[in-house]
Amino acid sequence: MVKARKIVLVRHFEGQPRTEDFRIEEEDLPPVKDGQILAEAVYFSVDPFQKVHTAMQKVGDTFYGAQEDRSTLLLVQLSCVSAAVRWCNAEAYAQVARIVESRAPGFPVGRHVVAYWGWRDRTVADVGSGRPQPPLYVSPPRLVPHLGDLPLSLSLGVLGMPGNSAYFPLLDICKPKPGEVVAVTGAAGAVGSVVGQIARIKGCTVIGFAGSDAKVKWLKEDLGFHHAFNYKKTDVSTALKQAAPDGVDVYFDNVGGDISTAVMSNMRYRGRIVVIGAISQYNDLEQQKLVNLPFTFLAQQLRLEGCAVARYHDRWEEGISQLTKWVREGKIKYRETVTKGFENTPRAFIGMLRGENFGKAVVKL
Ligand SMILES: NC(=O)c1ccc[n+]([C@@H]2O[C@H](COP(=O)([O-])OP(=O)(O)OC[C@H]3O[C@@H](n4cnc5c(N)ncnc54)[C@H](OP(=O)(O)O)[C@@H]3O)[C@@H](O)[C@H]2O)c1
Repeated sequence: MVKARKIVLVRHFEGQPRTEDFRIEEEDLPPVKDGQILAEAVYFSVDPFQKVHTAMQKVGDTFYGAQEDRSTLLLVQLSCVSAAVRWCNAEAYAQVARIVESRAPGFPVGRHVVAYWGWRDRTVADVGSGRPQPPLYVSPPRLVPHLGDLPLSLSLGVLGMPGNSAYFPLLDICKPKPGEVVAVTGAAGAVGSVVGQIARIKGCTVIGFAGSDAKVKWLKEDLGFHHAFNYKKTDVSTALKQAAPDGVDVYFDNVGGDISTAVMSNMRYRGRIVVIGAISQYNDLEQQKLVNLPFTFLAQQLRLEGCAVARYHDRWEEGISQLTKWVREGKIKYRETVTKGFENTPRAFIGMLRGENFGKAVVKL
C-alpha cells in the first residue's frame, strides 16, 4: 500500500496563520485505476488566496486539496465570496509532481504535471478531460512542457498560473500602449514582478510599489522598473505625483485597500484598472468597502474590471509560450524564494503572507 503525507488544517486562523494551525497526517492511497496516475510532489506553490479559502474549509481537510475535498468546495461555492472562490479554485493550490505510475494515455511515467491537489506529497488522481468542468472549475493535471535547462519550479511561477495572471489581465484587459504609465502594487511578488516587466517590454513607463527597500532596489536595478517605492515608508499619492505628474494610464491592482485607493485617485483620463488581488483585505473580507471614488471614475472616465485568471483557460498555452520566449531571451527575469522540506510548507506560506518572498514563493520537497 502506497502512503501519502498531507498537511491538514487543525484550526481556523485568527488573523495571520500560525504553524500550530497545521498538522501532518498520513493516509493510504488506493490502487491506480484506468485513466489515473500516481504522482509524487516535487514543488508546492504557496498562494495568498489560500488564506481566503481556509475560512471555508473544514478542520481536518487537506490544505487545500481541491480535487479531494469536493464537498467542501460545493459549500464554498454557496458562500458569500462564492464567485471569486469558484473561479480562483481552478488555478490555485498547485504542485509540480512527477508521474511514478500511470494508467492514463498521454501521461507517461517520468513526466511532470502541474496539478491542484493541495499540500500532499503523493496523489492518485484522474487526469480528466483536460478542461475544468463546471460546477467545480478545478483544472485537471496539465503536463509540464519540456523546459530544457529552466527549473521545473517555474511552472508554478513565471511559466505558470502567476505568469498568466500577469500576462492576460495586463494585455487583454488593460491593453497598455507604448509611452503609457503602468502602475503595479505587490510589484516584487510572483504576479507583480512579471506585470512590470511585460509593461516595460511593451514600451511603457513602469511604477512599482513593494514592501521593503531591498525589493525596491531589485525592481529598479534588476527588473528595469522606471520607478519603485516602498509603500511602508512613502505616501503613495505623493510618489505618483512625482513619478507620473500626468497620471497613471493602467493600474494593475494586486493588493486593494488604501494603497489602491491612492493609485485610483491618480489615474489619467480613460485609465484602465484591473483588480486581480486584494491581499491587504484577506484578513477580514467582511470589512471591505467600495472605494470612495465614484466622482473620480466619472470625471476621468475610468474603467475597472476584476479578473480571475481561470477565465483564460482556453488560451493558457499562449501565455505560457510567450512568457517562456521572453524568459529565454532574457527579457523577463525571475526570482524564486524556495523553502526546503514538506514539513516547512506552512512556514513558507506564512512568510509569503508577511512579504518575505521575492518573486514566487515555492516549497521544494
Ligand atoms: N485573480 C487571480 O486569478 C489571481 C491569480 C494569482 C494571484 N492573485 C492575487 O494576486 C496577488 C499577488 O499574488 P502573488 O501570488 O503574486 O503573491 P506575491 O505577491 O508573490 O506574495 C504576496 C505579497 O503580498 C504583499 N503583501 C502582503 N500583505 C500586504 C498588504 N497588507 N498590503 C500590500 N501588500 C501586501 C507582500 O509583499 P510586500 O513585501 O510588497 O508587502 C507579499 O510578498 C494576491 O492578492 C493574490 O491573491 C489573483
